[in-house]
Amino acid sequence: MVKKKVAIIGGGQIAENVHAAYYKTREEVEIVAVVSRHADSARNFAERNGIPRYYTDAAEMYARENPDIVSICSPNRFHFEHVMQALEAGCDVMCEKPPAIKSEEARMMMETAEKNNRVLAYNFHHRFSDDATLLREKVNEGVFGDIYVVKAQALRRSGVPGWGSFTNKEAQGGGPLIDIGVHMLDAALYVLGYPEVEKVTAKMFQKIGNKKSKGTFGEWDPSKYEVEDSFFGFIEFKDGGLLQIETSFALNIKESSIMNVEFCGERAGASLFPAQIYTDHEGELVLLENRPEADPSSNRHQKSMAAFVDKCLGKNVMVADGKQGYIIQQLVEALYLSAEKGVSISL
Ligand SMILES: NC(=O)c1ccc[n+]([C@@H]2O[C@H](COP(=O)([O-])OP(=O)(O)OC[C@H]3O[C@@H](n4cnc5c(N)ncnc54)[C@H](O)[C@@H]3O)[C@@H](O)[C@H]2O)c1
Repeated sequence: MVKKKVAIIGGGQIAENVHAAYYKTREEVEIVAVVSRHADSARNFAERNGIPRYYTDAAEMYARENPDIVSICSPNRFHFEHVMQALEAGCDVMCEKPPAIKSEEARMMMETAEKNNRVLAYNFHHRFSDDATLLREKVNEGVFGDIYVVKAQALRRSGVPGWGSFTNKEAQGGGPLIDIGVHMLDAALYVLGYPEVEKVTAKMFQKIGNKKSKGTFGEWDPSKYEVEDSFFGFIEFKDGGLLQIETSFALNIKESSIMNVEFCGERAGASLFPAQIYTDHEGELVLLENRPEADPSSNRHQKSMAAFVDKCLGKNVMVADGKQGYIIQQLVEALYLSAEKGVSISL
């Protein structure tokens, strides 16, 4: 069997813990190279993960290695450039979330993948949980009737990341909305079947991140805190439904972290993590489905990567594709615009 050649761009923590870790479990593929910004860290990454060659220049890597599959694990602001380069080199691509910084970039990424007939997938891994799979099945079976109110939460009480460039607006494109809010947005939209959006209205705050300097995710410099620390938005769908998104790096809430989605339908409601489906009978709560524990995050990542590799091998499986990545990026852009301008934005 000729193995598909894999290259990884951006040798950081997600590349190592998720992408390299998964590719090593598949006999149909082999990682041939890693590209990272600094030679030392690229070499160390290659050594730790048994990867034969490392580069600091992606163009040189494409010319020498001719990979079939590429994982883009660089910081957000490089996703567009790196995905386009990989697609133009004829590769199938798995890109970390968020797809890009601007919706125009995500649109070009989607169109280039379509034009070149390549797989483009984004690592929105939460939708691959057994929990999301169960709820999607039940939506398709009509268990809920019309789902008309949804609440997606990606909240941290004091979780400003103390590493990388998460507080730098230019590098990241924003704060919690583009970093963690996108995860619960994708999970919610996936369960709903990606309904069309009519308009969005939002408000954001910067109240804590620019004053405090230490939290559960390490220390940061408040004088360099440039992004929102909490974000609240309403997304109205063309079918009349409403999705509320709440997301924060820092917000005075009771829990240290909440990553969940609640769905309210005519006949039943559900929460995503763990998947529970419930209804009411004469004032009493009736549990229709009750997963005692949510699928662990590592399983979700594994299934997301597995779907991508299977798709590259020609199987007809679901991935978080270029079109859905474009929709998420349009939503993020419209939500930020609404919050900046103080008006609703129609899509
Ligand atoms: N799916 C998830 O749950 C999840 C979790 C964490 C991170 N991510 C995403 O993964 C991406 C990377 O995050 P991370 O936490 O691994 O960050 P990281 O800082 O650990 O790794 C980024 C790596 O990219 C390298 N790099 C920087 N500029 C580069 C360039 N121009 N060319 C090549 N390499 C470059 C850096 O040297 C570093 O090794 C981000 O987009 C982030 O949003 C996704």
